[in-house]
Amino acid sequence: MSPHLISPSLLSCDFLKIGEEVKMLNESKADWLHLDVMDGSFVPNISFGLPIISAVKKISRMPLDVHLMIVNPEKYISDFRNAGADHITVHYEACTHLHRTLHQIKETGTLAGVALNPHTPVEVLFDVLEDVDLVIMMSVNPGFGGQKFIYRSLDKIKRLRKEIIERNLNTLIEVDGGVGLQNAEAILSAGAQVLVAGNAVFNTPDPSKTIHQFKMIEIGNFV
Ligand code: DX5
Ligand code: ZN
Repeated sequence: MSPHLISPSLLSCDFLKIGEEVKMLNESKADWLHLDVMDGSFVPNISFGLPIISAVKKISRMPLDVHLMIVNPEKYISDFRNAGADHITVHYEACTHLHRTLHQIKETGTLAGVALNPHTPVEVLFDVLEDVDLVIMMSVNPGFGGQKFIYRSLDKIKRLRKEIIERNLNTLIEVDGGVGLQNAEAILSAGAQVLVAGNAVFNTPDPSKTIHQFKMIEIGNFV
């Protein structure tokens, strides 16, 4: 059994059939369900929000992995928790008081995540790393599914993983954007434990089989 986790992004699903898509994922080997919330301000796109998350929560057997691409995320932490989020990830670039926001998330009983845009160095997290359960390393500029993976991200994953190991922390590294079967091995070998995949899962004839293929990927050594 592979130790890495797959978090399919619902952004690429058929929204006319969202219930069926979630049920299909329930029966697949998907570990988490990734939900991308976009506000048209932090990112140049608007996706969905609380009502969709509440609806999905009613039928999902997977933990809801909520990625907030919104300004002032601290205003909405309890709302997203009440809607059913099991992990709440805020963007480093959207938080003036990141340490406070991370603790606000933890107080709701969820995993606290931070996402980093492609231009943001991982070192900005080093003074709060003990407080972070999950780092979402953006390997595209956030806002849209189906973009091309930025290969420079591999070096960032390696640097962060090294730091996490040196400090003996359990912080998970999740990679989001342009992830596919062709680059998953390199991403996992660099030190990631969780793969988000939107387009690579939903734009295939058999998404469940694709998720299985993601799970079967053999991991090399990241050092
Ligand atoms: C992008 C989102 C991603 C997106 C990934 O801003 O955060 O989660 O859905 O889609 P793919 O896997 O198609 O790049
Ligand atoms: Zn995402």
